[in-house]
Amino acid sequence: MCGIVGYVGRQAAAPLLLQGLARLEYRGYDSAGVALLDGSGFCVYKEAGRLSVLAARMNGGEGLPQTVGIGHTRWATHGAPTARNAHPHLSDNGHWAVVHNGIIENEAVLRRTLREAGVVLRSDTDSELIAQLLQREDDGDVPSTLRRVTAQLEGSFALGVLYTAQPERVYAVRCQSPLVIGVADEGVFLASDIPAVLPYTQRCVMLQDGDVACLTAEGYTVYGADGEPLQRPLQETAWEAEQAERGAYAHFMLKEIHEQPEAVAATLLPHLQEGRVTPEVLPLTAAQAVALKRVVLVGCGSAYHAGMVGAQVMERLARVPCVAEVASEYRYRQPVTDGDTLVVCISQSGETADTLAALREAKRLGARVMAVANVEGSTLAAESEAVLLTRAGPEIAVATTKAYAAQLAALYLLAVRLGVMRGTVTPAEEQRLTAELRRLPSLIRGLLKTAPQMHALAKRLPPLTDAYFIGRGIDHAAALEASLKLKEISYIHSEAYAAGELKHGTISLMESGTFVAALACDKALLTKTLANVREVRARGAWVLLLTAETVEEAADEVLTIPAAEPLFQASLSIVPLQLLGYYTALERGCDIDHPRNLAKSVTVE
Ligand code: AGP
Repeated sequence: MCGIVGYVGRQAAAPLLLQGLARLEYRGYDSAGVALLDGSGFCVYKEAGRLSVLAARMNGGEGLPQTVGIGHTRWATHGAPTARNAHPHLSDNGHWAVVHNGIIENEAVLRRTLREAGVVLRSDTDSELIAQLLQREDDGDVPSTLRRVTAQLEGSFALGVLYTAQPERVYAVRCQSPLVIGVADEGVFLASDIPAVLPYTQRCVMLQDGDVACLTAEGYTVYGADGEPLQRPLQETAWEAEQAERGAYAHFMLKEIHEQPEAVAATLLPHLQEGRVTPEVLPLTAAQAVALKRVVLVGCGSAYHAGMVGAQVMERLARVPCVAEVASEYRYRQPVTDGDTLVVCISQSGETADTLAALREAKRLGARVMAVANVEGSTLAAESEAVLLTRAGPEIAVATTKAYAAQLAALYLLAVRLGVMRGTVTPAEEQRLTAELRRLPSLIRGLLKTAPQMHALAKRLPPLTDAYFIGRGIDHAAALEASLKLKEISYIHSEAYAAGELKHGTISLMESGTFVAALACDKALLTKTLANVREVRARGAWVLLLTAETVEEAADEVLTIPAAEPLFQASLSIVPLQLLGYYTALERGCDIDHPRNLAKSVTVE
């Protein structure tokens, strides 16, 4: 999705804006632009393609004296990824400059209204309409002008706005698309995401829906929908700047794969005390926990895959019906739910549009709702009754790894705690399970040593056109995530399949050389899955087998996974398969941290 930056202060804005946009590249984009402002008006630079093209056109921002500006990386929705459609967009009279993240759903009506009023539109974008409307509504008071314009907009929008009559200010508006203000010694920053301001400050505030903010070199004021100033106090984020830097790693994805032990430990350990899971992980009383009729884990992509693992662990331990649902399906299927249902929305960014919509639908239907989120000030966290934070730190690579691992850890905590509250997990069992959870970070660290083996395998594999990941039970749930990791960064068609389901159709695709990764970490299901491995090998498939047992000649390559609690094995088997996906993409020369067509946080539907 698009990235917004803004700056007002005592330093030259251009280099800071370009650096901020570079830190937001992971969000996905296909054009970029900057507008600088001083007493003589706007200087606007816009280029299609990578940020380096814009930076070259601006000579890296050197020699540009303006100390106020906004910048944008655009992920094209309305209109081709061209310089003409890149942001910032100016009003016809040149008094307003706007950058926008989101989608204006009533853009056709607005476009027609403006054209009928004789406005000449210069781009194909919905965002330009905002600049033209600001001109139409301009009464010299920017916050009230912004409120009148945003009242005409339907959809999601985060805005950065400049106004030539106030060259020492940056304005911001937030509606269903994230915006953060960072207050630093060198001035005040605006950005779509915390990593863009981290090099300058850890003092941030996440704007909330409906907020209109005015940034000056000294600070900021936030106005509510009624036009009155609001208190939006600064928070000290725990995230450090170098966490959002790549460091010595070739890619953020590889760095974040290697950060998984710390991410899982940071998520688990605050809630493991004296062999127990601490009560605050779950916002239920004992009576509510016993009365609970159903748990629904909702998410998108990898967050959904974490839910697929969590659902099996939750049902096994707490003996309450638990399912995982894709958020974009849940929100439209009119689910039967009520106060005896707990809906857990899982999201790394906390800004995924479909997951937010599912949360709001669950609340509307009367369900209890909580979040498992990685960004403390995110919309999901703000709108949930309770939040269980995954403490993975900033995750930059589009392909999630450490956040997924931390989501699994968080779901294990919920499952154990709910089981204890419902009496289905005894104190002795809780002691054993929490001891097993404490082992996970070191077991994950040990599996990072499979990197050379996975790299060698990636080199050896023939150019794959298809790949299959099969497993049963939790192994199947883990296979879903393993398949997505390969698919989304190497562009190889890949699918995960319940191993027992193969013979009901898909086995017809098995032929000589077909790549199959078989996950068989659950000892109780090993024999069955080995039978499936024999079936596909008999038809020519090449099989990588992941198992905790010693099995001779069962596959073309065997990867031993350490023996651990079967319920938690998904945290282990995914590590080598993340590495396999990474090294396969590396061998194919793919843009690993910025895979084509993808964005880190899908804030539009
Ligand atoms: C996974 O590698 C992808 N980045 C994607 O599936 C992601 O998990 C999904 O878009 C959900 O994002 P969220 O966790 O921020 O809600």
